[in-house]
Amino acid sequence: MASLRIGVCGLGTVGSGVVNIFNDHRGLIEQRCNAGLQLVHIGARRDNADCDTSSYRLSRDVFEVVRDPDVDVVVELIGGTTVARDLVTQAIQAGKHVVTANKALIAEYGNELIALAEQAQVALRFEAAVAGGIPIIKVLRESLAANVITGVAGIINGTGNFILTEMANAGRGFDDVLAEAQALGYAEADPTFDVDGTDAAHKLVILASLAFGIPLDANAPVTEGIDTVTPADLEFAKELGFCVKHLGIARRCGDAIDLRVHPTLIPTTRQIARVDGVLNAVMVEADAVGEIVLTGPGAGSLPTASSVCSDLLDLGRVLSHSKVDPMPTLGVPSDELQTLPLIPRDEVKGVWYLRLVVEDRPGVMAEITGLLSERGISIESLIQRPPTAGSSQVTVVILTDSVACGQLDSAIRNMEALPTLSGSVVRLRVESFQEV
Ligand SMILES: NC(=O)c1ccc[n+]([C@@H]2O[C@H](COP(=O)([O-])OP(=O)(O)OC[C@H]3O[C@@H](n4cnc5c(N)ncnc54)[C@H](OP(=O)(O)O)[C@@H]3O)[C@@H](O)[C@H]2O)c1
Repeated sequence: MASLRIGVCGLGTVGSGVVNIFNDHRGLIEQRCNAGLQLVHIGARRDNADCDTSSYRLSRDVFEVVRDPDVDVVVELIGGTTVARDLVTQAIQAGKHVVTANKALIAEYGNELIALAEQAQVALRFEAAVAGGIPIIKVLRESLAANVITGVAGIINGTGNFILTEMANAGRGFDDVLAEAQALGYAEADPTFDVDGTDAAHKLVILASLAFGIPLDANAPVTEGIDTVTPADLEFAKELGFCVKHLGIARRCGDAIDLRVHPTLIPTTRQIARVDGVLNAVMVEADAVGEIVLTGPGAGSLPTASSVCSDLLDLGRVLSHSKVDPMPTLGVPSDELQTLPLIPRDEVKGVWYLRLVVEDRPGVMAEITGLLSERGISIESLIQRPPTAGSSQVTVVILTDSVACGQLDSAIRNMEALPTLSGSVVRLRVESFQEV
């Protein structure tokens, strides 16, 4: 192929970034690619003042790009899983390579799209779908290919990290910081997926597939959002030597997989504890290399476009001397992916932070600690605040030792039935990452 001809669908934040990179770095891209790489066609329902599209064919119907015989690779940047799924499916069926930044599409329909792409012998790439500008897909798929990967953990939603960082540093409430994140353009107009952990779960599923050679399963992770974390928990965590991050964690435990997304207390001494604001970080533990941490912008126009363009450059290089991209989408051909059982939520072991409000009376703490010790749960640390003036209640914070989730649930149920306990017990997981 003389030159790889590119069609971009969607001209929003990421689409405009891709066009700007092509406008500004055309020479550099061709030199680095050692092959022709031409942006020829843009599909966008409207213009975007942030980029100049005057050198390219422009269609208001994004499907025109798919139908264009002069387009070899379709870049899907419209988002969502309905029209985007149709667009990518039609592009593959038309024999075109596809690059996308769409984590929801890959997490939910990746298996079907990868199989289709393999059948059609076209490439499907999605470097930008996880952690924006951080090149983690290529690292897992190619750079660490000689390793057995045992764990991946990361801050993979910038909005969530921005909110938790602001709450911790400025003592602000969740709703207040979320409103600012929306005003700054970090959070979507509908921030549900950022807040409830769905966005991070989509990304974790992709990382886990690459790391462990398993099929994509969007429903696999145990998922908890950040809306239950309060400034009080962040304060207590700090006092205990931790910070709270919203983490996606994928671990291989023997022949089973543990996949979780939740707010997590991590020691302030860990490298990812210092990843603040909208930055993302992904930590990989692998047998030969040991631990590596990649940090950088997890979103934004140019950082995300940088990852989209890296896929395009890769394809340009490969397809300049081969008809077919030899790199399987998930590192191994899809019929060699192996389904591994998930560790049931109740059996996942871990250390827990508990916060409870109890009556300030003799014997109450003995009841609480008794309920834990009955189930063999030891207490690592305990903080008890004196009651505030005029109150008969005290706040107690407990760090447990490692315990299975189901066992802790049962102790908490019994605690919450005590008449001396007010409201519910707040619980957050603690990770030190010694075993990742
Ligand atoms: N933003 C980031 O930092 C970031 C980072 C990593 C990955 N991603 C992923 O990249 C993709 C694009 O995100 P974005 O932030 O660039 O979104 P965006 O700013 O909302 O832009 C989406 C673009 O697609 C167009 N579009 C949406 N639905 C369409 C439809 N049904 N038919 C035709 N055009 C349609 C929009 O047109 P209108 O303007 O007419 O609506 C707009 O041009 C998403 O999958 C997102 O998850 C984004």
